[in-house]
Amino acid sequence: MTRHRIAVIPGDGIGVEVTAEAIRVVDAVADVEWTSFDWSCQSYLDTGKMMPDDGLEQLRPFDAILLGAVGYPGVPDHISLWGLLIPIRRAFDQYVNVRPVKLLPGVQSPLRDRTAEDLQMIVVRENSEGEYSNVGGRQGLGDYEMALQTAVFTRHGVERVVRYAFELARQQNLPVCSATKSNGIVHTMPFWDEVFQDVAKEYEDVPSEQCLADALAARMVMAPQTLGVVVASNLFGDLLSDLSAAVAGGLGIAPAANLNPQRTAPSMFEAVHGSAPDIAGKGIANPVAQILTAAMMLDHLGETQAAVAIEQAIERALADPGARTPDLGGSATTRGSADAIIAAL
Ligand code: NAD
Ligand code: IPM
Ligand code: MN
Repeated sequence: MTRHRIAVIPGDGIGVEVTAEAIRVVDAVADVEWTSFDWSCQSYLDTGKMMPDDGLEQLRPFDAILLGAVGYPGVPDHISLWGLLIPIRRAFDQYVNVRPVKLLPGVQSPLRDRTAEDLQMIVVRENSEGEYSNVGGRQGLGDYEMALQTAVFTRHGVERVVRYAFELARQQNLPVCSATKSNGIVHTMPFWDEVFQDVAKEYEDVPSEQCLADALAARMVMAPQTLGVVVASNLFGDLLSDLSAAVAGGLGIAPAANLNPQRTAPSMFEAVHGSAPDIAGKGIANPVAQILTAAMMLDHLGETQAAVAIEQAIERALADPGARTPDLGGSATTRGSADAIIAAL
């Protein structure tokens, strides 16, 4: 077995709890050397920094990064996230955020009469630019006070994520839908559409369409069987991936990968969900999302068999109500749910 060197940032809240379980599951199927970094909102409160000045350089040599979640009450989100998560995504050119969902046995979708064939959506989120920019600022006073935030879309940035979406769709035999709001946002979004159309010409074998993101949100609930790969800007991809997670059964089962497809730096694997302060410390967070995320990491590292073994173990384990955490209507603990998955391996 190849030995993989993985940096782990458990982070905050349930991020710590579910990452511990993901590590146990991976250890059952692959040879991984874990190096843990305790960068979090707590370390910010202790040291004034989310990560050390050379944090990115410390991470760079690893084969991949497994991250729990960042952000916790007590530290403003824009400080914690722009101090840790977002710099990693950018510095390591993790320009694609892949967020797949599918129905799992025993997980009740709000669209309950749907079957697995009806619902397989993969949100491909632009992860390095767009609405998530630090261009802008505040000016003026009183009634004239205002905040400006410039969305930055580059041809290079849009083209590469759209191309990734088409490649994935071709490989998975799925259609592509591009989500924009070109009716309301008149500079950046028509630009995205134009680049999308240019790239689409290279993939005439892949069915593709352009959708207005608001109507697409409704369609994700009303007719998910008509969708496959959904490619969207940073902000729209963020929103649509929580929605697609909910359609499949909740944030507790939705994995994600921040990918540097050229592999010029490590990719980072973190579930769609956050630190869930409302349930943190109770031992009831669903570990499935982070375990599926770890499986995506193994697949990225070439451990395809181990990844598939984990996915199948999750499907077998969840078929038993005893393995389901409260978000899935069960009463399993985080640890108990992971134990059932390990037993099913
Ligand atoms: P959240 O995803 O943490 O939680 C939303 C809801 O989903 C909560 O009710 C929570 O209990 C539930 N939930 C989420 N994951 C679950 C799981 N595994 N099992 C069971 N229930 C689960 O979103 P939020 O509350 O808006 O954000 C909390 C903090 O996390 C904020 O600081 C936010 O900025 C941060 N955040 C971080 C990441 C990340 O680091 N990847 C992602 C999203 C949010
Ligand atoms: C996610 C999160 C982050 C994002 C936040 C915490 C900055 O919501 O990974 O989905 O919006 O990218
Ligand atoms: Mn999000």
